Amino acid sequence: MEARTVDYSRTTITELMIPSFANFSGKVHGGLLLSLMDKVAYVCASKHSGAYCVTVSVDGVEFKEPVEVGELVSLAASINYVGNSSMIVGIRVVSLKPKTGIEKHTNSCYFTMVAKNEDGSLMTVPRLILESNDDMRRFYDGKILKKMRRQISEVLDREIKDVTEQAMIESLAEDRCDVAYEREKL
Ligand SMILES: CC(C)(COP(=O)(O)OP(=O)(O)OC[C@H]1O[C@@H](n2cnc3c(N)ncnc32)[C@H](O)[C@@H]1OP(=O)(O)O)[C@@H](O)C(=O)NCCC(=O)NCCS
Repeated sequence: MEARTVDYSRTTITELMIPSFANFSGKVHGGLLLSLMDKVAYVCASKHSGAYCVTVSVDGVEFKEPVEVGELVSLAASINYVGNSSMIVGIRVVSLKPKTGIEKHTNSCYFTMVAKNEDGSLMTVPRLILESNDDMRRFYDGKILKKMRRQISEVLDREIKDVTEQAMIESLAEDRCDVAYEREKL
C-alpha cells in the first residue's frame, strides 16, 4: 500500500459550544470534548488508512482550562505514528472566545486507533512519510509511548497479581482510605 504524508490526513474540526453541552455554571462537560476528540481522531485515522477504524486507547487527556458556552473549540489532529494496524493520532484542542479573539490551549492528547478490514480482521496501514523534523520527532515520541504503555501494563499485571491482601493493606496505611470490609479468616 502506498505510503502517505502526515498532511494527507491532517484534519481540523471546529464546533460552537452551545448551552446543551454545558453544566449549570456554563462550563462544557469533559465528556463532550472527549467525544469530539474521538470524532476527529476517527476522521484522521480513516483518511490515512482508507479503512474503518476503532478507538483502542486514549493517553494524556487532561483539561487544563475550562471551556465555556459561546466559545469556538477547534481540534487539530494528525497521524503521529503508525505501527502495523495501529495509528497514534495526536490531537491539539484550542478554544477561542470570538468576542475577544483570545485563544487558549485546553489540552493535547493521543488516541490510538486500529484499522480493520471488512471482515473485522486487523488491516496493515500505509507507512508514514516524515517530511520534517517535527514529523520525525512525533513519530519517535509515538514509538516511545507505545513501548512505555506495554511496559506499564506488564508491570501492573505482575504487581497486582503477586501482591497479597495483607501487603496491600500495609501499603495503604498512610493513604486516605479506610479498609472497612470483613476480611476472610485464613
Ligand atoms: C484493539 C483490538 C483490535 C486489539 O486486538 P488484539 O487481537 O489484541 O490485537 P493485537 O494485540 O495484535 O493488537 C493490534 C494492534 O493494536 C495495538 N493495541 C492493542 N491494545 C492496545 C492498547 N491497549 N493500547 C494501544 N494499542 C493497543 C497493538 O499494539 C497492535 O498495534 P500494531 O498492529 O500497530 O502493532 C481489539 O481489542 C478490539 O477490536 N477492541 C475493540 C475496539 C473497539 O471496538 N473500540 C470502540 C470502542 S466501543
